[in-house]
Amino acid sequence: MNKLSNADLLATLEWRYATKKFDNTKKIDEKTWSTLEQALMLTPSSYGLQPWKFIIVQDLPTREKLQAASWNQAQVTDCSHHVVFVIKEKMDEEHISKFIEQTAKVRNQDISTLEGYKKMMIGDLVNGPRSEVISEWAARQAYIALGNFMTAAAVLGVDTCPFEGIEPKKYDEILGLTGSGWKTVCACPAGYRSGDDKYADAKKVRFDAKDLIIYK
Ligand SMILES: Cc1cc2nc3c(=O)[nH]c(=O)nc-3n(C[C@H](O)[C@H](O)[C@H](O)COP(=O)(O)O)c2cc1C
Repeated sequence: MNKLSNADLLATLEWRYATKKFDNTKKIDEKTWSTLEQALMLTPSSYGLQPWKFIIVQDLPTREKLQAASWNQAQVTDCSHHVVFVIKEKMDEEHISKFIEQTAKVRNQDISTLEGYKKMMIGDLVNGPRSEVISEWAARQAYIALGNFMTAAAVLGVDTCPFEGIEPKKYDEILGLTGSGWKTVCACPAGYRSGDDKYADAKKVRFDAKDLIIYK
């Protein structure tokens, strides 16, 4: 593995900013996009359960509808790839079994050795007290994917803008998710900054380290 230098890591994180204006003539090439897709898929999740889907909206009329459901933010139509982070509303045995089968297959394990793990997850997330707040739990996983995606994109010189300024229920309607058991949490347009986005040079506003980092 090639390790980034400390200085390069910080320069990359400084370079990333919430892009307000994308250059709508620039598209992310296939190889770079495929790498970012894999970065999304490599995001860690609680128990490894991946209670999410990532919907990449390419169709312009659909994007226009989504823009209207995103405080009319122009990034939705100007970006190269508009990613919508969608979560499973309820955890169920079917999803957990699918994950267990995948684990046995990928790791060439006897599935019976995973029975205890499966029961534990079902006891916790399907039948336990956490089942009451399961969509909060799933949303937290989606935000990890959002963060991972933005950092991976920045490493590859791709701009992004995290989006909570959306109407999730309208997104669900537009994307045909209503009643499917899946729902929108947040979104992230990705592409390349426009040369005249004044926010690109704005200084980062962060509290002092002494207020944020505590050693005990
Ligand atoms: C979860 C989340 C939701 C956000 N929603 C929006 C949004 O809807 N539109 C927007 O322009 N910026 C949005 N932002 C961007 C923040 O305002 C921005 O990240 C913050 O001011 C720090 O600036 P920087 O990302 O440029 O360093 C969001 C950021 C996060 C993390």
